[in-house]
Amino acid sequence: MTDTKKIKTIAVLCSGGDSPGMNCAIRSVVRTAIANDLEIYGIQRGYAGLLEGNLKKMDASSVGNILQHGGTILQTSRCPEFHEESIRTEAAHILKRKGIDALVVIGGNGSFNGALALHTEHGTPVMGIPGTIDNDIEGSSYSIGFDTAVQTAIEAVDKIRDTAHSHDRTFIVEVMGRKSPAIALHVGLCTGAENIVFPTKDHNVDIDAIATDIKRGIKRGKGSSIIIAAEGEKVGLSHSIQKELLEKFDIDSRVCILGHIQRGGNPTANDRFLASQMGYTAVKSLVDGKKAIVTAFREGKVIAAPFSECLGKKFDVDPQMVDVVKTLSI
Ligand code: F6P
Repeated sequence: MTDTKKIKTIAVLCSGGDSPGMNCAIRSVVRTAIANDLEIYGIQRGYAGLLEGNLKKMDASSVGNILQHGGTILQTSRCPEFHEESIRTEAAHILKRKGIDALVVIGGNGSFNGALALHTEHGTPVMGIPGTIDNDIEGSSYSIGFDTAVQTAIEAVDKIRDTAHSHDRTFIVEVMGRKSPAIALHVGLCTGAENIVFPTKDHNVDIDAIATDIKRGIKRGKGSSIIIAAEGEKVGLSHSIQKELLEKFDIDSRVCILGHIQRGGNPTANDRFLASQMGYTAVKSLVDGKKAIVTAFREGKVIAAPFSECLGKKFDVDPQMVDVVKTLSI
């Protein structure tokens, strides 16, 4: 087992889908490490890069002029092999050979599960920093990148509203979030959407209710209607809504899938604020001898939370938020 009291060298990696603000978090980890007399390595391309031994030493200037940029200078990857114990053993050996005493992982639930397994099996101290646009990490109200993704989607929907209004049209705008309804909810509320469709287990959508809303809107003189659809896990949700609206209710509509533009761009103030504090808290926790924590945002503060509280995927659909959307879009 690694003794955290003797931690001298740490490494940082990004894992899973990238999110705006990851660079800001990397900068914070690197500079806090240097300020605390730790050596710091950057691992390129997540767990996959770790397994290739793709590490490079970082200094204060390695992270200069990056905090305002989207993407991640360390790049990232999805690494399903890391679910295998033998692969994690290989990773632990590589870390040991390279003299790395602890690992900071910026990513989502899958990445955290891998990090915790590494800690449990090999004693490697691990710090998790929530970085995903989906905002679906249990135990933290926000994750790095969510705010920027929402802002990007809002700007796109505002533009779509212009053309929708000019043509008296209905649009189905699909936002990212896989199993998470968070982006859809926030974007729907902030753009005055008439309807929001969430991913459910069976992907059932109340098409009759959507059509009734659209028709009521038309009756009272509305020029356009916007349905925000959370992508869900099954491809094609938006197009199937479009098809049903036409076939059952003779409502013509257009589909716009926003896709990966939501993952890029300069991070917003909120994401920079969160990322800077989370990177700092992760390294400070290591210095304080913590072995496995996640930097979580709770009640306006970044705190060091036990991993066990942050492994699940949250599915928060605040009924009041849904009611606000429906009440305001009559
Ligand atoms: O990282 C989260 C996410 O952006 C989800 O919202 C989306 O479903 C998924 O990643 C897309 O993954 P990929 O970039 O691998 O296609």
